[in-house]
Amino acid sequence: MESPARRKLRLAVLISGGGTNLQAMIDRCAAGTLSAEIVVVVSDRPGVFGLERAQRADIPAFHVDYNAFPKLTADELEKAGLPADIADLDRRQKIVKNPDPLERRARLARLVAAEHDLIRILDAYSPDYVCLAGFMRLVTPYFINHFNAAFLRILNIHPALLPSFPGQHGYEETFQYGCKWGGITVHFVDEGEDTGPIVAQAVYPIWPDDTIDTIRMRGLMLEYEVYCQVINWLAQGEVALKNTSGGRTVVEITDPNYARIVGGWTANIALR
Ligand code: GRF
Repeated sequence: MESPARRKLRLAVLISGGGTNLQAMIDRCAAGTLSAEIVVVVSDRPGVFGLERAQRADIPAFHVDYNAFPKLTADELEKAGLPADIADLDRRQKIVKNPDPLERRARLARLVAAEHDLIRILDAYSPDYVCLAGFMRLVTPYFINHFNAAFLRILNIHPALLPSFPGQHGYEETFQYGCKWGGITVHFVDEGEDTGPIVAQAVYPIWPDDTIDTIRMRGLMLEYEVYCQVINWLAQGEVALKNTSGGRTVVEITDPNYARIVGGWTANIALR
């Protein structure tokens, strides 16, 4: 498949809630500062405000209600006709950690069934990239392999400076730990939880009188900025992947303005 560099990217955005990152992308698309078109928005539950944001911007919006998929017993699992071999997936996956293999596979099967519907919707819009933006679900290797066959096509925004504080509570954990700087990360999604190649990170100061709400607000401003910049770098073909001798895939941004842009994020946010 041809890499979609140097043109307007077709983005699918996955959400679970309010969708302020989505809104930042919509606004920048409208202003012409994001080299992208949001072709579809999908939520993992009905009725969230992010879907309304998409509809207001005339973007096709759907939900796949993960909670409506039943948990299958071992017997039902056999007969379910799922699109993936769950036992094989279980051997390769790193996200569902339940020690009971039956429980684990039942949970995986439920995720795969939901992902099957999700993929059907996304494929209909031929996205270049799938952007997780507050999507509070783990994705299985079934989903990842579908999109990552030719190149890494799934991005996530994480509210902490990875590899510190993976999981769903990045701001809370950064704050409660007593960090003096917090951070946010945009990364490609791989088969672990928040372990994929890091594309960009930015940091913000945590002042003595801060609260969880003030640091979240500060971090979110950076999230919007950095996520959109990453999309522009992808559109410009400025994101290169390299393999390290340690066997890890890492990202190098080749934009000659890299230092100025990254320095600007922190300089702007660190002023008081
Ligand atoms: C953001 O903090 C993002 O980093 C995390 O979930 C939050 C989503 O916020 N993954 P919003 O829905 O974009 O407002």
